[in-house]
Amino acid sequence: MNTFKKIEPLRAELLLQRQKNKKIGFVPTMGALHEGHISLVEKAKEVSDIVAVSIFVNPTQFNNPEDLKSYPRSVERDLGLLQNAGCDIVFLPEVAEMYGDQNDLKINFGALENSLEGKFRPGHFSGVGQVVSKLFNIFQPQAAFFGQKDLQQFFVIKKLIDQLSFPIDLHMVATKRENNGLAMSSRNERLNKEERLEAGLIYKTLQESAEAILNGIPLDQVVARVTELFKGSERLKLEYFEIIETDNFTKVSAISDPKKTALCIAAEIGKVRLIDNLLLNY
Ligand code: PAF
Repeated sequence: MNTFKKIEPLRAELLLQRQKNKKIGFVPTMGALHEGHISLVEKAKEVSDIVAVSIFVNPTQFNNPEDLKSYPRSVERDLGLLQNAGCDIVFLPEVAEMYGDQNDLKINFGALENSLEGKFRPGHFSGVGQVVSKLFNIFQPQAAFFGQKDLQQFFVIKKLIDQLSFPIDLHMVATKRENNGLAMSSRNERLNKEERLEAGLIYKTLQESAEAILNGIPLDQVVARVTELFKGSERLKLEYFEIIETDNFTKVSAISDPKKTALCIAAEIGKVRLIDNLLLNY
């Protein structure tokens, strides 16, 4: 496994691989890797010749400086996991290498910015779009892999690829879960044992709600039931639960196309913010 801290030598290595007609699969990450990330690497290995991973905690996508400061970092452990997973190339840039003193580019994702994560984390998707565009230009992969857990991010990247004509196949990889259904996330490292257990309510809620919708329960009743469920939880605070269509992430009042409908949830436990979702046609 080759690791790079600088853009130019990385580009040179990738060019060499492309000249050998190797298909490059790219997995962008912010490190603190877990089984979810490894499943992205495994998927990338299935469909590419060379698997390249970036580890970069991107400051421009954090609207909360405390969140950026406390974001878990475990580079040595991450490198071990990537090596075991059969990753070929890792890029570990410093902030200065990525941005120098120029990081003021803004990208507006239209309607996708106005709901759920876009609304609760102003500027977040602009930062994601900025760093992912830059990484796409550096890696020039044929395929890129993102987890379903960050569903709105996936559709932001889809918009980026479609509208900026990046010649990249975008893959969504299913969410990896703990035994109690809690979606794996780097942020889970900041949960204690009791919080981890209680956070299982998030996925349970999604499953029960999807079942209720498929049984014809009106959506407003489903939403009201979720609010009640969370009132009964000691530690979890519901931030939002919404039933949305995936093109624009706008709320739906009735299901017209189950394939384009998702249930999305965000909740806080202690100082940790967790998100999860379920596609209705799962
Ligand atoms: O999902 C993440 O970890 C980040 O948002 C990403 C895509 C690596 C961009 O920084």
